[in-house]
Amino acid sequence: MPTSPPAATEKAAPACTCVVGLQWGDEAKGKLVDLLGDEHDFVVRYNGGANAGHTIVWGDRTFKLSLLPAGILKPHLKSVIANGVVIYPPRFLEEIQQLEAAGIAVGDNLALSDHAHVIFPYHMEEERLTESNSGAIGTTGRGIGPCYADKVTRVHAVRVGDLLNADYLRDRLRTVVPWKNKLLAAFSNNGPLKPLDADKVCDEYLGYAARIRPHVTDTTMLLHRGLREGKRILFEAAQGSLLDIDHGTYPYVTSSSSSPAGIWTGSGVPARHLKRIIGVVKAYSTRVGNGPFPTELNDGADGLGELIRKTGREYGTVTGRPRRVGWFDAVAARYTAALAGADEIAIMLLDVLSVVPEISICTEYEIDGVRRLEFPADSYQLNRCRPIFETMPGWNVDISKARKRSDLPAAARRYIDRISELLDLAVGIVSIGPDREQTIMMG
Ligand code: IMP
Repeated sequence: MPTSPPAATEKAAPACTCVVGLQWGDEAKGKLVDLLGDEHDFVVRYNGGANAGHTIVWGDRTFKLSLLPAGILKPHLKSVIANGVVIYPPRFLEEIQQLEAAGIAVGDNLALSDHAHVIFPYHMEEERLTESNSGAIGTTGRGIGPCYADKVTRVHAVRVGDLLNADYLRDRLRTVVPWKNKLLAAFSNNGPLKPLDADKVCDEYLGYAARIRPHVTDTTMLLHRGLREGKRILFEAAQGSLLDIDHGTYPYVTSSSSSPAGIWTGSGVPARHLKRIIGVVKAYSTRVGNGPFPTELNDGADGLGELIRKTGREYGTVTGRPRRVGWFDAVAARYTAALAGADEIAIMLLDVLSVVPEISICTEYEIDGVRRLEFPADSYQLNRCRPIFETMPGWNVDISKARKRSDLPAAARRYIDRISELLDLAVGIVSIGPDREQTIMMG
């Protein structure tokens, strides 16, 4: 008789959760990861790189992370940077240093996948060149797109595991760097390019490798072991689903799968383990970078767009760029909620709307005189869509001290209920300020 395989993962039925943005990123997911972290054993990032910006506020302390999972602030959790993430080693080390300087220990609690791909200086230069031409995406300039492009074309890619093998790395870079030099010189728009020296790049990265090594592991196996032991995993999506490489507003998207669809490939954890998917939206919309934005408020320096931007401090965590601001777009959020398989909605930054007298929600689009409820995830079509708004009275009082639904003014409750109705999903969490206490569990 053959011996039976190790206990099936279903037996333990670990409750895996995903926190995913349903807009164009910056939906304040970091706060939710911080709140939900205590109920989990692992916090996993599965996509993107140092293009993400997570802000977490603990009393008078503010932490800004772009590459490390927000879970790193809780040393009892295992924070995992899985294979789907792209790593810029100096940034990785810098964030660890910043945390250590703030008294937060980073050791065994941080695991980095040996399969994750590595960003090099030539990736950033490549991005600078493509972004300085027409058709720019308005990227964060962190080398994300070129690194993912190398991952897919394979011949010039370097993975974290390769950094730990000095001979292999040197050989590899002696092939890759001259190639990149030729490519960059051909497209240079900054005068003659100073070519990169493969050995110098290799020595620099071997220096990083020595410091990164203790964190490097096969994170897929780590997570599978965890699942077998009944451990609970919280997946932290970077960016928002409208920036998803396949399903977002292409080509104005990021280069990874930012919806939960990316979990399986980006971490090796099969989708069937996901038991709770929390779709996170802001009470309004923002977007950084180029691309269509049907509900954008382009009403000048004295307009509501600027008022919301200032009140919500809508400036990029990574680049400092002012974010484009607009009304809540239920057509877009309905699409991404379905795409993500969201079970419930979290509405963030509701307090910001306290400053506006009247609130608009986009409920439908009109294109060539025809109304439509479905979102066209194609930039050309989306650019032609005109939003159809309904308006609701604002509440115009400070709601940041509310702690339960009944503390909210009737107009704010109506706004929450309307979003729930339009998305056909329950609103489970409402955030009314950056602090942990400023969170209403809707029950
Ligand atoms: P990339 O990810 O740097 O290639 O940039 C592609 C697009 O995604 C640009 O419009 C960026 O502004 C946007 N983007 C990337 N990361 C984030 C994020 O974390 N929040 C919001 N927008 C992002």
